[in-house]
Amino acid sequence: MTLSAEETEDAGEKLGRKLYPGAIITMEGPLGSGKTTFVKGVARALGISQIITSPSFTIVSEYYGNMPLYHMDLYRIDSIEEFELIGPEEMLDGSGVSIIEWADKAEGYFRQRHINVFMSIQGSGKRSINIEGIDW
Ligand SMILES: Nc1ncnc2c1ncn2[C@@H]1O[C@H](COP(=O)(O)OP(=O)(O)OP(=O)(O)O)[C@@H](O)[C@H]1O
Ligand SMILES: [Mg+2]
Repeated sequence: MTLSAEETEDAGEKLGRKLYPGAIITMEGPLGSGKTTFVKGVARALGISQIITSPSFTIVSEYYGNMPLYHMDLYRIDSIEEFELIGPEEMLDGSGVSIIEWADKAEGYFRQRHINVFMSIQGSGKRSINIEGIDW
């Protein structure tokens, strides 16, 4: 449970420090649950100083720190076929970290081993974060 956006960012940073080249993190959770906030912390851990914005309109944003970070947001995607049009395997099979908001929009695509982050809103300022696939 986190009690502020800052705490959620710190949780992202904690996960970010454990990431490795090729790591894939899928994120699920409703609008405003803090997915992008969490990604900001991951980016901080990877030494990325650019400001992380929501890639909703572009689907993918790329950042370069200690490792490349591919930040995807599938909110506007409705099927695996549509997701494949952006050429995700190049990013997912590469040596960077891929983090995917609204990964459930391409349900079934992420069959390979990956880290799953589930976020939910527990009240004003409160979010719960559940992480599977990595020692936490
Ligand atoms: N504990 C918390 N953790 C994260 N964000 C919080 C928390 N409490 C309040 N907030 C607020 O909730 C909002 C979370 O926004 P954010 O863009 O990170 O959500 P999101 O899950 O990426 O949404 P979207 O599905 O639209 O991409 C921010 O305005 C943030 O300030
Ligand atoms: Mg977001």
